[in-house]
Amino acid sequence: MKFFIDTADVDEIREAASLGILDGVTTNPSLVAKTGKPFRQVIEEIVAVVDGPISAEVTATDFEGMCREAKELHAIHENIVVKIPITREGLRAVKWCTGEGIPTNVTLCFHPLQALMAAKAGARYISPFVGRLDDISSDGMELVAQIRQIYDNYGFDTEVLVASVRNPMHVVQAALMGADVATIPYKVIAQLLAHPLTDIGLEKFLEDWKKVPKAD
Ligand code: G3P
Repeated sequence: MKFFIDTADVDEIREAASLGILDGVTTNPSLVAKTGKPFRQVIEEIVAVVDGPISAEVTATDFEGMCREAKELHAIHENIVVKIPITREGLRAVKWCTGEGIPTNVTLCFHPLQALMAAKAGARYISPFVGRLDDISSDGMELVAQIRQIYDNYGFDTEVLVASVRNPMHVVQAALMGADVATIPYKVIAQLLAHPLTDIGLEKFLEDWKKVPKAD
């Protein structure tokens, strides 16, 4: 399973990249707004740090506007994947991008039928938002399982990108379900390695090591 980081903060991206397990980046308008920097500058900075798929989202809501922004974003760098919301106009724009050879990440997916439509339009990635479904007492990971099954049933090569990840168990479940990618906030990436028994075990090893006689 590929690990993307879900942030527009370049320091967080650098930090995650230094672990050697980072495959790509996803951003959205809210994450870009948090940086306080202009959109294009943020994307150019990220492109310079990570050599992998980097999702940048359109903000137009009409077909022509989405296609125009998709073209502009993909022109910044070949690694840019254009993130498009799964609306009626968005679906048309995804189909258009597919024809133009522009990879897309279809976002704000909350239902398996939306995922099926995105795959039929040729999306590179589908982003089910698991945390936001959990927030309204739905089972976010069940959506991932349904999408996985539908895509496997028909051999779609659209990648299942688990988004709105809130905790390490989302990542475990994503991997068990065969998701292709999990996009994970920096805070959760930091939690993935942590285990109290690892800390206790290491402390004991180092303590015992002090008792080993030193050679002359
Ligand atoms: O990148 C989109 C998605 O991951 C947003 O997550 O936590 O705002 O629901 P969240």
